[in-house]
Amino acid sequence: LADLTPTQINRILTHAKYLKTTSLPWLAPQRSKNARLRMPSQSLFNKSVALLFSKRSTRTRVSAETATVLLGGRALFLGREDIQLGVNETVRDSARVIGGLCEGIFARVGDHEEIEELAKYSPVPVLNALSSLWHPTQVLADLLTLHEHANLFEEDQKAQKPSDDFKGLLQPVRPLTVTYVGDSANVLHDMLVSFPRLGHKLRVASPEDAKYRAPKPVWDRVVQLGCDKNIWWGKDPKEAVQGADLVVTDTWISMGQEAEKAQRLKDFAGYQVTEELCREGGANPNWKFMHCLPRKQDEVDDEVFYGPRSLVWDVSDNRKWTIMALFDVLFGKWTLLAEKPFV
Ligand code: CP
Ligand code: NVA
Repeated sequence: LADLTPTQINRILTHAKYLKTTSLPWLAPQRSKNARLRMPSQSLFNKSVALLFSKRSTRTRVSAETATVLLGGRALFLGREDIQLGVNETVRDSARVIGGLCEGIFARVGDHEEIEELAKYSPVPVLNALSSLWHPTQVLADLLTLHEHANLFEEDQKAQKPSDDFKGLLQPVRPLTVTYVGDSANVLHDMLVSFPRLGHKLRVASPEDAKYRAPKPVWDRVVQLGCDKNIWWGKDPKEAVQGADLVVTDTWISMGQEAEKAQRLKDFAGYQVTEELCREGGANPNWKFMHCLPRKQDEVDDEVFYGPRSLVWDVSDNRKWTIMALFDVLFGKWTLLAEKPFV
C-alpha cells in the first residue's frame, strides 16, 4: 500500500464496494425492487491468473479463486509442491515463464525479496498475496470494512448495522484511533503506511525487543511517507488502547516462525486482547475488533473474538471484493490505475 497514493487506495475501495454491490444486489435495499444478479466486469474473460503460493492460505486463496470466476477468468493454483520453482528453477526464470503464460501473478512468498524479484522479471503485473514484510490485500479488506461500519464507532450508535446506502461513493470514515496490540508483522506494516495517510491515528504496543518492532525497510517507508507523525509506539497494551475506536491484532507466531513459539508465547504474555484490557485502558466504549485470521486464543479471547464488537467475519468476506477489484484493475485493465477512476 506504500506504493499507492491515498486517492488510489480510495479508488480501489470504491471499486471493491461497487463490485460487491453489483455482484450481491440484495445487499442494497434501495435496489432490491430491480435486484438482479449481473456481471460487474468480465475483464478476465479468456484470461488466466497464476496464484503462486509458497505458504498456506484459506481466505486469500479462496477469495482469489472465486473473484477470478466472477471476472470471467481462470485461476491456476500453483503451490510449492506443484511447480519447479525453488527446486529446479529460479525465481527469475519462473517469473518470465509464468508471466509469459498468464495475465497476472498473485504471489504469496517467504522473504519479501522474492516478490520483488518476481516483479522485476515478470512481463505481467505481480500482486503481493503476503510476504515476510507486507500483506496489502488484507489491509484493503480492513479498510473497506471500516467504511461499511463507519457509524458503529459513534456515541449514539445511529446505525447498529453496516451502512447499505451505497450510491457510488464510500461513506466517509471520521478520523479514528486505531490500536494494534501484538507482533510487528506483515499486516501491521501495511497499516503503518496506509492508516495515517487516511487520517487515522495509530497506537501500537509490542515488546521492546527489536524483533517485535518494525524492521528498517518498513520503517523507512513509514518515515518517507510522513506516517510516523501519526504513530505512537510503546510496550504497554493498556496504554496503547487508550481512546481506541478499533483494536486490531494478529497471530504472535507468523508462518515460518513456528520454531520460536515457546519464546514468543513468553514474550507476549499480557498482550491478549480482552474486554478487561480495553476497559481498564480507556478504549472508546464502542470499540470494535479486527483480526486477519487465522486466529489463536493467545492473542484474543473468545468473548471479544465471537462477541458483538468483532468485525472479523465481515473482514474475511471483504477479502474477496478487494482482491477482485485489484485483479480487475491490475490484471484485467491495469493501465487505468494511474490514469483515472475506473468506475
Ligand atoms: N488473512 C489471511 O491472509 O488468511 P489466509 O492466510 O488464510 O489467506
Ligand atoms: N502475520 C501472519 C498473517 C497471516 C494471514 C503470517 O504472516 O502468518
